[in-house]
Amino acid sequence: MLQSKLPDVGTTIFTRMSALANEQQALNLSQGFPDFQAPQALRTALAHHALEGHNQYAPMTGLPALREAIANQLARHRGVRCDPETEITVVPGATEAIFCAITACVRPGDEVILLDPCYDSYRPAVILAGGVPVHVPLGAAAFAPDWERIESAISARTRLLVLNSPHNPTGAVMSRDDLLQLQRLVTRHGLLVVSDEVYEYLVFDGRGHHSALQFEGLRSRCFAVFSFGKTFGVTGWKTGYCVAPPELTAELRKVHQYVCFVAVTPVQQALADFMSREPDYPLGLAASYQHKRDLFCAALANSRFHLQPSAGSYFQLLDYSAISASVDTVLCEQWTREVGVASIPVSVFYQQPPPQRLLRFCFAKQDAQLLRAAERLCRI
Ligand SMILES: Cc1ncc(COP(=O)(O)O)c(C=O)c1O
Repeated sequence: MLQSKLPDVGTTIFTRMSALANEQQALNLSQGFPDFQAPQALRTALAHHALEGHNQYAPMTGLPALREAIANQLARHRGVRCDPETEITVVPGATEAIFCAITACVRPGDEVILLDPCYDSYRPAVILAGGVPVHVPLGAAAFAPDWERIESAISARTRLLVLNSPHNPTGAVMSRDDLLQLQRLVTRHGLLVVSDEVYEYLVFDGRGHHSALQFEGLRSRCFAVFSFGKTFGVTGWKTGYCVAPPELTAELRKVHQYVCFVAVTPVQQALADFMSREPDYPLGLAASYQHKRDLFCAALANSRFHLQPSAGSYFQLLDYSAISASVDTVLCEQWTREVGVASIPVSVFYQQPPPQRLLRFCFAKQDAQLLRAAERLCRI
């Protein structure tokens, strides 16, 4: 009847592992979402705006008050000035913005560089646009980009490079030098960039986040994508934004208006209220998530796992090579059933997984849950 355009795609691992965790009543450290509540004032504001009757379509580009609040936040925290009219678009989740950006600029046969391991939505978006994903592995040491290798993967057909820092699934954070290297490379080869910065505030150990928007040569050719779901702990609200120069924003909006058209109105109002009342709320996130990372890692000190504390995001990788030679996809299901802790196998983020033994655990969980999970993992 229908020849699939995505023959290799099934239900995502996140859906499958969360379902298995529920079925087995395992501690769910697989899917990336907090198990604690978002700020009360934010949730109250949503209820207030819905009850006040703000329940019809917002403007296609996003509520002006929210775009204004985003521009203020970018100026305050990143030193970046943006025009909310022509450069900021509110979207129903970062995933939609990534899809729209890729759809807007990739033509059939265009090559798109993806750095493996990478978030699972990039590749299908490239394929649906008729593009060719070119997967380049991140370096074996600390998952840093190997810029020489990336440059050697660039051809005359390369159109776009997708970047993600802080990084899912590894927690790696790109340095200022990485962004300078990227800037040199995309300028030299005339490439566009999608910079997925959804974990921008979750950078630990006193390191800061470097946004592509802070580098003039990147900013002029970049769609930078952010998620309120991650910053405010409301992944179920599926709201984010994309910052791009006016010409790129115009093209993004042409797609966005026919994919989802708008993001949810009372959610946008609640976010605008909260951001104008508490503009520095995101600055407290690094300390509270670092506490969770440290708690989880310290509780695993006597386990047989090897780990390097995550530099950013809310994911911690555990290396189980001293425990088992099984492939991660099998082991992760087995341990969900037998140990009662669900995780995500890192191999699913690769086109060609290397011979490594890594599982990803989300530490955006209540302290007691993290301690219970670590205790179970220490028994292995
Ligand atoms: C790297 C990365 N990008 C994008 C997203 C999606 O964000 P949103 O829920 O706002 O679509 C996620 C969510 O897990 C992610 O990890």
